[in-house]
Amino acid sequence: MKILVVGGGGREHAIIKKLKENKEIEKIYALPGNGGMKEDAECVAIGAKDIDAIVDFAKNNAIDFAVVAPDDPLVLGCVDALEKIGVPCFGPEAKAAIIEGSKVFSKNLMKKYGIPTAQYEVFSDMDAALKYLETAPIPTVIKADGLALGKGVIIAQTREEAFDAVHSMMEDKVFGESGSNIVIEEFLTGPEVSVLSFTDGKTVVPMISSMDHKRALDGDKGLNTGGMGTIAPNPYYTEDIAKVCMETIFLPTVYAMNKEGRTFKGCLYFGLMLTENGPKVIEYNCRFGDPETQVVLPLLKTDLFTVMKAVREEKLSEIKVEFADKAACCVVMASKGYPGKYETGYEIKIADGIDAEVYVAGAKLSDNKVLTAGGRVLGVVAVADDLISAVDKAYKEVPKVTFDNAYFRSDIGQRAIKALK
Ligand code: AMP
Ligand code: GLY
Repeated sequence: MKILVVGGGGREHAIIKKLKENKEIEKIYALPGNGGMKEDAECVAIGAKDIDAIVDFAKNNAIDFAVVAPDDPLVLGCVDALEKIGVPCFGPEAKAAIIEGSKVFSKNLMKKYGIPTAQYEVFSDMDAALKYLETAPIPTVIKADGLALGKGVIIAQTREEAFDAVHSMMEDKVFGESGSNIVIEEFLTGPEVSVLSFTDGKTVVPMISSMDHKRALDGDKGLNTGGMGTIAPNPYYTEDIAKVCMETIFLPTVYAMNKEGRTFKGCLYFGLMLTENGPKVIEYNCRFGDPETQVVLPLLKTDLFTVMKAVREEKLSEIKVEFADKAACCVVMASKGYPGKYETGYEIKIADGIDAEVYVAGAKLSDNKVLTAGGRVLGVVAVADDLISAVDKAYKEVPKVTFDNAYFRSDIGQRAIKALK
């Protein structure tokens, strides 16, 4: 069997490594993949947003199944296009991917179906937004409607910052057309939990919960990033809370999407905040999270391809999806300076005998050497019997991966460990 994976980051590397456990899979192509994956997939220089080229590639290479991992191609209709030529896919069609592609859509969906989320207003007119902000409670949260590389959310701590955010999104268009419409919403507080789930539109199977660490620096300081590390499971996400989430959020969301004629099949990611008034949705993603996937999939005991096929065929209720009763920690190693300016082109070396998975995100091959080529370079992932051991082990193994200008947070998992105690 030949599989195509669209995307090229650490998340895709984790998906590919997990798929490889299935012995029926002879070949995996990654489009575009990256230079750090060469042992696990054949990387083909086709961009994840180049839908026509992806479709051509699938046609010419007798692809049996495709996994479309990133948000952009999903929102652009990559699954629709591949299915149209007869390639079965894991991932939602464009009309369902809109749950991430448009914050206005997802907020209105939650309001219509009574799914708990922050109170909000939508604006397409800048003056109206500015006027609203004159009396809105501060802090407030301002979100660009469309995809913005995970950067379209601004938490304004002062009224000035809020005005600036609106100007930059709606006037200066720092996020392009994504900022033509904006959502201004209530600032919520509480621990955050990421719950990735498999759904075929009928059944929802939440995966093991996780916690992202989005800020660049220790102590949750510094700028927002794509994620500097993760742990799973998330100790704040108790069985009782999981039950509430299933009843008030997960099932109602899948039901709502069906009602809207936008059945969601794939990985539906619930970004939740556990507030004093119960769990609320911060965001939906139409895909696996990055770097959540790097800690969730290593704990999946069931064959990933079997699950993906069951989702595609709407037979998820017929299989048992099991996770190991263990914990995982991912420490992201980045290029110093990220998410601002940084240098690349440094050789990445991984010591023999490293007792961790290394999922590579930003690397290229040059003269058979693997060189850094991005802000987030790779994730070092350790699995152990419990969270404390997983965190210890990850940090014990991190020094076995070296490249110049490497930077990583030293406190991934500490907040979760505190919660355990
Ligand atoms: P998002 O891109 O929607 O995940 O937002 C990025 C981050 O901003 C989230 O992980 C939260 O930490 C924070 N955030 C988003 N919305 C809110 C909100 N309504 N209240 C407080 N924090 C928020
Ligand atoms: N780690 C957050 C995301 O994938 O959007």
